[in-house]
Amino acid sequence: MLYGGQTARFLLWEHRMDLAALRRNYESIGQSHVFRFWDQLSPPSQQKLAAQLEAYDPAFLKQVINEYVVNKPRIALPAKIEPVDAYPRTPQTPEQKKLYADAEQRGLQLLDQGKVAAFLVAGGQGTRLGYDGPKGEFPVTPIRNKPLFQVFAEQLIAWSRISGRTIPWYIMTSDANDLRTRTFFGQHDFFGLNPADVFFFQQGMMPAFSMDGKLLLGEKDSLALSPDGHGGSLRALFKSGALADMRKRGIEHLSYFQVDNPIVHCIDPLFLGLHDLTGSEMSSKTISKAHALEKVGNFCVGDGVLQVIEYSDLSDDLARQTNPDGSLRFNAGSIAIHALRVSFIERLNEGSSLKLPWHRAEKKVPYMDEAGNTVRPDKPNAVKLEQFVFDAIPLARNAIVYTTDRAEEFSPVKNAEGADSPPTCRRDQIRRAARWLSEAGVEVPWTGDEPDCTLEISPLFAPTAFELKRKQLPARIAAGSTACFE
Ligand code: UTP
Repeated sequence: MLYGGQTARFLLWEHRMDLAALRRNYESIGQSHVFRFWDQLSPPSQQKLAAQLEAYDPAFLKQVINEYVVNKPRIALPAKIEPVDAYPRTPQTPEQKKLYADAEQRGLQLLDQGKVAAFLVAGGQGTRLGYDGPKGEFPVTPIRNKPLFQVFAEQLIAWSRISGRTIPWYIMTSDANDLRTRTFFGQHDFFGLNPADVFFFQQGMMPAFSMDGKLLLGEKDSLALSPDGHGGSLRALFKSGALADMRKRGIEHLSYFQVDNPIVHCIDPLFLGLHDLTGSEMSSKTISKAHALEKVGNFCVGDGVLQVIEYSDLSDDLARQTNPDGSLRFNAGSIAIHALRVSFIERLNEGSSLKLPWHRAEKKVPYMDEAGNTVRPDKPNAVKLEQFVFDAIPLARNAIVYTTDRAEEFSPVKNAEGADSPPTCRRDQIRRAARWLSEAGVEVPWTGDEPDCTLEISPLFAPTAFELKRKQLPARIAAGSTACFE
């Protein structure tokens, strides 16, 4: 797997790797065309291409081409698919009440002991949003227009203040956005964080393949490469030295979240505590689906094993099944918020490769043709392969699922307009702020279901509704006004 920064380290000539052997390796798997332009390349370009080719194990390429490119893998759905028994948002029984109280204490204790780090995946391509740069730069809050990165940074600072311990932050970038992400943090003084506690690392890259299984060249001196999916983060954590850094710092658990959701609770003591007390190696948050066919993954128990079944793989019949009270039987949507044990990620990286399946997508990938011309296809011409983080759940011991509220924790900025876009996310941030303030006893003006004011609560002021209640607040917000709590 190719990782950023390797070009310098994996120089063929430094390793004294035999060019003839490299050629033979690629010939042996029917890919000798990758050397097509070799004789036209300058020495640095030759080194670049050789470094890329050296980073992949030909046996691995041969296997994925056979399994996922020239053959479409059959999705082997479990024979028996049942709903997951998720922990409810609020405890229902006396035993649960005790467990949740203990869990909250345990979560706070883990923070106090410095055993928790935050883990943000901020690679990917962000094609749907169409923002020209790392998605984390995108201005998202309703009044101050703070970028996504700042919202998360301020949450971590707030929780570090509450617990009295620094919460280190591991941020996975991609080859395309790594430098710009680091520069952005630098330009903003790390949003108040200590740079020594922010660890950037790049995700791995996978080659794109033609439909008949040939590696595509993006340039004469480069494969056509793309990020290997958020699941690749579990390998990149290991390869980058981030896991070793965590061990050094005594980190036991990671709080995983994605870059596009500013209302995520980056740190949630109750969730972390439940995860720890139940001995879970990988825990997940779920929300009720908006409707039976909502395009989110479904937490299910398949042949006895907790897993996420993608919406495209769950039959409409199953998706539409209801309980006697009319609620959806498969109602546990996946929102990509997890807690992971460091020891679990270490275990996943034992052996030769991370044992997660690859997901195949047919995409339009520009490539260099035999004559050395760049072709920009107008229909899918290539197969890209990605790994998904939720595929680690079936490999985890005692994995649990905990229910949260959509309005409290999930409003991603995925698209430029329509659902899950900047306007819906802004609306949801204002609604949540209005709810938190109302719960804290502030009179908030409403027009129907919508707050009749523009609100923003900085995480530095209060990262949760509970913390907000401890603040001095005005008695009321005037209709039509703008109020920022910071
Ligand atoms: P998405 O599935 O929304 O993908 O990522 P994306 O690449 O950001 O956007 P589109 O699909 O091209 O519009 C969900 C989360 O996973 C991260 C993203 O940064 C986001 O936080 N991700 C995704 C990675 O870090 N690496 C990847 O290869 C893919």
